[in-house]
Amino acid sequence: MTSLNFDFTAPATPATRSAVLVTGADGALGTAGDALDKAGEGIIRRAVAAARFKGKLFSGLDLVTPTGLDLDRLSLVGLGAAGELKESDWVRLGGAVMGRVAEGKSDAATIVLELPQGAVAPEQAADVALGMMLRSYSFDRYKSKKADDDDATKDIALTVMVGDDARAKEAWAARKAIADGVKLARDLVNEPPNVLGPVEFAERALQLVDLGVGVEVLGEPELAALGMRALLGVAQGSPRPPRLVILKWNGGDEGAKPVMFVGKGVVFDTGGISIKPAAGMEDMKGDMAGAAAVVGVMAALAGRKAKVNAVGILGLVENMPDGNAQRPGDIVAARNGTTIEIINTDAEGRLVLADALHYAIERFEPRFVVDLATLTGAIIVALGNHHAGLFSNDDALSAQLSAAGQATGELVWRMPLGPDYDKLIESKVADIKNTGGRYGGSITAAQFLKRFVGETPWAHLDIAGTAMGSPQTEINRSWSSGFGVRLLDRLVADHYEG
Ligand code: BES
Ligand code: MN
Ligand code: ZN
Repeated sequence: MTSLNFDFTAPATPATRSAVLVTGADGALGTAGDALDKAGEGIIRRAVAAARFKGKLFSGLDLVTPTGLDLDRLSLVGLGAAGELKESDWVRLGGAVMGRVAEGKSDAATIVLELPQGAVAPEQAADVALGMMLRSYSFDRYKSKKADDDDATKDIALTVMVGDDARAKEAWAARKAIADGVKLARDLVNEPPNVLGPVEFAERALQLVDLGVGVEVLGEPELAALGMRALLGVAQGSPRPPRLVILKWNGGDEGAKPVMFVGKGVVFDTGGISIKPAAGMEDMKGDMAGAAAVVGVMAALAGRKAKVNAVGILGLVENMPDGNAQRPGDIVAARNGTTIEIINTDAEGRLVLADALHYAIERFEPRFVVDLATLTGAIIVALGNHHAGLFSNDDALSAQLSAAGQATGELVWRMPLGPDYDKLIESKVADIKNTGGRYGGSITAAQFLKRFVGETPWAHLDIAGTAMGSPQTEINRSWSSGFGVRLLDRLVADHYEG
């Protein structure tokens, strides 16, 4: 695992052997780039012309041992022609920059940030650093051969040259906490399921006490006493006992109502008695990505000392088939009294969330609740890997989440709810059943959850397509993306802080 150490300084001649310079369209240079080009007797402009470098957004060109410059490597990265880059573009640019630095394999590099027409804003410099951190993440804990690997553990010292370096440093402090939260979420999702059961997951969550987060862990007897029969029904097929974790960050006014995040934490989903096919089942180690995102966002809020009261709830179970497992046909009573006919034991996430949501809302009376869950394969059919499904009973919360998605690049797409869909989960023998058939599978799953949230403003994010196995991007080269951490941190920062 690579670890990056950032410093921000005013523009000057790079003191490292490796440097990255951003350029405009067709390799257009700003003041610092022009000075470097002059020092190298025009070597940058010659290279741009020789390689026909267009400076397209995120594209790169490497100059090795550039004559006249005191550098072993100078990489150019394009900013494109667009006048204003969006915030998420600056983060992705950081990813592209980190890609160049990693290729150079050096342990120190200078990033020269400027626009052809002037300075880069300090927040944008911090966004670039955030993108670099996210790009540098790799999950190599279980690679036994490390020393000679490209991805070997190493520290890289990065100097970012930007106009207002003091304000960039400030802006970076908060971004660093967010990057750490994303990396934590990715680690949890990437961990193999033998290592990370409900108990072990809860232990990882407990480590957030170091950041000042209050952590409560409830075991089986407590969950039984609280009447969480829907959650326990899922857990009963596994020898590993369930856990419900409550994370509390009190950065806001004393007594002020908290914001709330609830995560599906199925540490492995075999499907239970309605067992899944073998092909690809290993991916179900990531069925706790919702809970991982909740841990990540709580770490981010605490790490940057957000002025908000926030509660995170993790429903941690393993869905296994054994002699004690739940059967199709079983009827269980959820904590709120709703009786549920189990049609398919593979529709387990909604059972876990039903009790977790009801308990959390009743106990904490939050301003709003957002749940995150790798809930349905159907959402991947509907939206692919590029948007999470958003379901909500509240237009304002929906709009805030959509805007946070645009700002961070963690995109959400609102899907419908309504009484006609709700009918599809009516049961002949119980109040509701746990599947509503193949059509609109993500919607009927959301209708199921809606039965447990009452009037509280609520949004459900189905992250099955975005949290894991999504295509590689400038800012993520690992199987798990950590989706949701930046989105929810942003939701809080823009609307619920201070
Ligand atoms: N964890 C799965 C959903 C999932 C599928 C997540 C693919 C990530 C990738 C969930 O528990 C599940 O099995 N859902 C079923 C519901 C069905 C039985 C109604 C599904 O999507 O097939
Ligand atoms: Mn399932
Ligand atoms: Zn599942």
